[in-house]
Amino acid sequence: MADKHATLELGGETHEFPVLSGSTGPDVVDIRKLYGSTGHFTFDPGYKSTASCESALTYIDGNEGVLLHRGYPIGQLAEHSSFMEVAYLLLNGELPSSEEFDDFNYTITRHTMLHEQLRQFYQGFRRDAHPMAIMCGVVGALSAFYHDSTDISDPEHRKISSHRLIAKMPTIAAMAYKYAVGQPFMQPDNNLSYTGNFLRMTFGVPAEEYEVIPAVEKAMDRIFILHADHEQNASTSTVRLAGSSGANPFACIAAGIACLWGPAHGGANEAALNMLREIGTPDKIPHYIERAKDKNDPFRLMGFGHRVYKNYDPRATVMQKTVREVFEALNVQDPVFETALRLEEIALSDDYFKEKKLFPNVDFYSGIILSAIGFPTTMFTALFALARTVGWVAQWNEMISDPAQVIGRPRQLYTGPTERDYVPLDKR
Ligand code: ACO
Repeated sequence: MADKHATLELGGETHEFPVLSGSTGPDVVDIRKLYGSTGHFTFDPGYKSTASCESALTYIDGNEGVLLHRGYPIGQLAEHSSFMEVAYLLLNGELPSSEEFDDFNYTITRHTMLHEQLRQFYQGFRRDAHPMAIMCGVVGALSAFYHDSTDISDPEHRKISSHRLIAKMPTIAAMAYKYAVGQPFMQPDNNLSYTGNFLRMTFGVPAEEYEVIPAVEKAMDRIFILHADHEQNASTSTVRLAGSSGANPFACIAAGIACLWGPAHGGANEAALNMLREIGTPDKIPHYIERAKDKNDPFRLMGFGHRVYKNYDPRATVMQKTVREVFEALNVQDPVFETALRLEEIALSDDYFKEKKLFPNVDFYSGIILSAIGFPTTMFTALFALARTVGWVAQWNEMISDPAQVIGRPRQLYTGPTERDYVPLDKR
């Protein structure tokens, strides 16, 4: 029983609704009985004030710039943990013991290969296909290959399909890259780490030994950690909504990939680097700042602003630091980093950005690192999808395991014509 209530006065009558408290964060008004008791819906396009589910995975305080996974701050995880450990944490709720961690690593490593027939599926794509188009198609097609793990009412099936998705995503993404550059697909090497294996499958060639550079492996792993989960964002909500109908997990994750592709979401890392390259030199920044502020110009500063963070995105802080580490490890420089730092400085001292609380988000610096490692911009969102798969499957599992789970079905404010009679074609 909730001990707090909210009172709604409507048409002269008062209605009481329970107010629920989570472990931290804002309380929520439980309006599940609103329509039944008042005949009214709420109206919240974009869900700016709507909690769509209960979740114990990730907590964000957007005003304070806090991001916790199962209670652990993202800064600590990025500094001390690994992507595989964060994956275990998100899926299971606790950090693993060393034995549990070894078992988990072993299981994920044993699922990295793709069915030979699925490898042939790639040939159906144009050579210049966007990797996200390939990811959507190939991940959706996994449903046709793994019938033995799609009974979503069986926890063991859910576990196996989750492991398969996490394990195969690097192989699928690396093959999308190889297909575009016309190089042979590389088989996984199970002696390498999750991230080292991905780097080898992407940049290695059969004719030569590929040497994983530890600093690059670490940076890449950290980028994966920073993208692992982010509570009920657009793609995660898409996965949950698709999953709420009972669709199989491969189809649900393909839906998440489709949603992530958009430039307002995961596509922003690609758009941010393209924008920084277009700006070119710091002297052009004021022109682009003016464009971003102009209501009549659709241009926005990509990698800036966030629905939830009204403060610095804590992931952007780690990203900025990682740029320096990768540059040092690879002994490279990219003038685009100077442009980004200067752009951030100018934007953060501008009243428009201050008033609207627009800060750099995770995508602002990630593209610079990925580009230095050697990824083309078209791969950026595919890498995001690879990492976010962990969050998607963890959220999907949480939803399906909840006995109170029902199909997601929002209502609407209808503004179309009211009932009218059909007019035959010769009378129109
Ligand atoms: N540049 C310029 N103005 C901006 C920007 C920006 N990047 N972001 C928001 N604004 C302005 C809007 O024009 C709007 O102004 P108004 O109140 O005068 O109309 C105000 O700030 C609020 O913007 P909304 O779009 O209403 O905010 P919302 O929370 O819906 O959008 C979003 C968040 C989509 C991320 C937005 O900030 C944006 O488009 N940013 C650029 C794209 C981007 O970087 N996306 C990545 C997000 S992080 C992720 O997905 C991992």
